[in-house]
Amino acid sequence: MVRLQNSLPPPSARDDDMPLKKVFVKTYGCQMNVYDSERMIEALAPVGYEHTDAIEQADVIVLNTCHIREKAAEKVYSELGRIRQVKADRLTEGKRTTVAVAGCVAQAEGQEILDRAAVVDIVIGPQSYQQLPGLIFEAETQARKILKLDFPERDKFQDLPKRAGPRQASAFLTVQEGCDKFCTFCVVPYTRGMEFSRPVADVLHEARALVAGGVRELTLLGQNVNAYHGEGSNGKAVSLARLLAELAEIDGLERLRYTTSHPNDMTDDLIAAHRDNPKLMPYLHLPFQAGADRILAGMNRKHTASSYRLLIDRIRAARPDIALSTDIIVGFPGETENEFGETLRMVEDIGFAQAYSFKYSPRPGTPAAMLEDQIAEEVQSERLQRLQALLEVQQSRFNASCVGLVLPVLFERPGRDNGQLVGRSPYLQAVHATAAETLLGGIHEVEISVANRHSLTGIVRPAFA
Ligand code: SAH
Ligand code: SF4
Ligand code: F3S
Repeated sequence: MVRLQNSLPPPSARDDDMPLKKVFVKTYGCQMNVYDSERMIEALAPVGYEHTDAIEQADVIVLNTCHIREKAAEKVYSELGRIRQVKADRLTEGKRTTVAVAGCVAQAEGQEILDRAAVVDIVIGPQSYQQLPGLIFEAETQARKILKLDFPERDKFQDLPKRAGPRQASAFLTVQEGCDKFCTFCVVPYTRGMEFSRPVADVLHEARALVAGGVRELTLLGQNVNAYHGEGSNGKAVSLARLLAELAEIDGLERLRYTTSHPNDMTDDLIAAHRDNPKLMPYLHLPFQAGADRILAGMNRKHTASSYRLLIDRIRAARPDIALSTDIIVGFPGETENEFGETLRMVEDIGFAQAYSFKYSPRPGTPAAMLEDQIAEEVQSERLQRLQALLEVQQSRFNASCVGLVLPVLFERPGRDNGQLVGRSPYLQAVHATAAETLLGGIHEVEISVANRHSLTGIVRPAFA
């Protein structure tokens, strides 16, 4: 019989003399998954787990998964193949390993994961991970498989431990989750559920705790973050612009960002915030997906190419130097060469500092997956190549336009070369500079000397008293 070396005490009763156990977490997908992984690690700390980067040392392995495109979902199964070996090797040393699949693949595929991959002990959806400590205990003590895919009534954030401890200079903070937009290509409304906004007081509380731990920049997260309408102190809904204004009052918090936004939720007050809120960085990720109105209608995007262009004009009028980023899908069912040409034209006309572009990937259960005129993979690849070539030129051009400027850079981590730090410009470019470690976590003026393809290099300006 295998000895249960890593069985847990009931979650809440950690004995200080008990040796720490280890948890390894691999994160796929969007920033919300990055945030969720961090919170899972924090939730496991009080019951005796410390985080490890070495999978073979982990008593618990969590894959926090993404279902957005087929490739993203398939990666999980190939990783589970590798984990089967890790688990077997550990077992020969008498060590037990509990494997949990969390995130959007867990929510979308549920039982199928347990059927397909015997190595998995727990499948847990994005709205249930606050229960992970108890479920690990259950899986280990009762030696049974667990499937947890509820969308509980009670908001999970209330059941997660408070944020504490030292932090990196920049942190994510989820303020909104889920989506009611039902774009026909997208799994998010099914994996994350309906739109939900956290109350303002909770967000402020978490933000203050993060700032107390050394955070200088917050990126507010949501699948549709600009649809935020959390409850304010008077019980009424508060907009994202208002939330950003309240966060800007926190001393020590220097920078605010938010992502991802839908064009139809770019309200006047949010556009004005880009002019009026001095802590809000001049960067906006605003997916347009496709340049042709017929394709946008097929996607159920509820905006048109011209409404997007007009919106960009208004945003640029409020904040002329704003750096724009976007998401684009090529080869949506039925997309003609001419319609793809309209996507290229949109990119040419607007000019993006950076962008993410994808081949359309049919997702099970979504309306677009059922459409007949799916585009051949070779056509999609060829279009993606052309689009990405254009986007690369734009990104290089944008980076080149920064040479000679002095930009405030928030240094976040040591660089690869000795004596080098890496930080972010207001426009979210990575900036490398030779600088003392004491500058980490602070904002310093950097004169940009070189533009690389995906980053900048510069020289730290001496601070003047
Ligand atoms: N909430 C965001 C996007 C979330 S998903 C928004 O509304 O814009 C991130 C990006 O993945 C999307 O913007 C889209 O470009 C891409 N995406 C989503 N589903 C996809 C699919 N089935 N195939 C290819 N790309 C997809
Ligand atoms: Fe998906 Fe974004 Fe559309 Fe929502 S708005 S369905 S998250 S692409
Ligand atoms: Fe992926 Fe889920 Fe995020 S599908 S992109 S991890 S919301």
